[in-house]
Amino acid sequence: MAVCQNTETLRTQVARWRESGDSIAFVPTMGNLHAGHLSLVEIAKQNAERVIVSIYVNPLQFAPDEDFSSYPRTLEDDLKKLDALETDLIFLPDDTMIYPQGEQHSTFVEVPGLSHIIEGECRPGFFRGVATVVLKLFNLVEPDMAVFGEKDFQQLLIIRRLVEDLCLPIKIMSGATLREGDGLAMSSRNIYLDTQERGKSRFLSAALIEFQHQIKRGVDIEKAQTSCVDVLKKQGFLVDYVTLRETSELALVSEDGISANKSLIILAAVKLGKTRLIDNLKFTI
Ligand code: PAF
Repeated sequence: MAVCQNTETLRTQVARWRESGDSIAFVPTMGNLHAGHLSLVEIAKQNAERVIVSIYVNPLQFAPDEDFSSYPRTLEDDLKKLDALETDLIFLPDDTMIYPQGEQHSTFVEVPGLSHIIEGECRPGFFRGVATVVLKLFNLVEPDMAVFGEKDFQQLLIIRRLVEDLCLPIKIMSGATLREGDGLAMSSRNIYLDTQERGKSRFLSAALIEFQHQIKRGVDIEKAQTSCVDVLKKQGFLVDYVTLRETSELALVSEDGISANKSLIILAAVKLGKTRLIDNLKFTI
């Protein structure tokens, strides 16, 4: 497994693989890898001859009051896990490579519309940070395909839109959310939960499942949503949002918009103590 910290080495290696006809799949990450990330690497391996994983904690996607400085950085452990999966190359860019003018003064890219609703409303500038770094990483790595997790469903749609709008020749693939035994979606931020919060955190996915059941049973959307929010609040969650959307554009769903075979998604973000958790549940009626 090669570990590469500069653009020239990366490009030379990628060019060699291309010359020998190998396709390249890319998995961008912020490190602190868990089984969810590793499942994306497995998807990459199944679809391409060569797999590149990047680890970069992107300052542009953190607001000043967020956890950029405390975000878990576990490089040694991450490299071991990626080596065990026989990943071909780990790309470790630094801030000067990604933001030569400093992150506040570099060119950015923003996907309109989708970036400003739901998660984007709670975290202004977040998706600008994500789209910008992903585009830069795509330009550096030049992969044939890239894999993203469905846990960050809105992010996945934004990346797909970015690729379509900017005519990038990159196929975007996705991997299903991996969950702990009690239903908690895997996330690098789960390590912030103390024992009591970890116990409670399972109620998030359970509440989304109940919301889904109610919609399938024909309960009024607003009623089902309110009862989901109430249950979460009773368990001590601070609810940023719980919302039912259609999956393609994340448009709000109206009562008469619910029809057979309609693909829907419940998206949620909550805080438990100092930990912010997001989750989603996709289903069809
Ligand atoms: O999902 C993530 O880990 C990040 O948002 C990404 C895509 C690596 C960009 O920093």
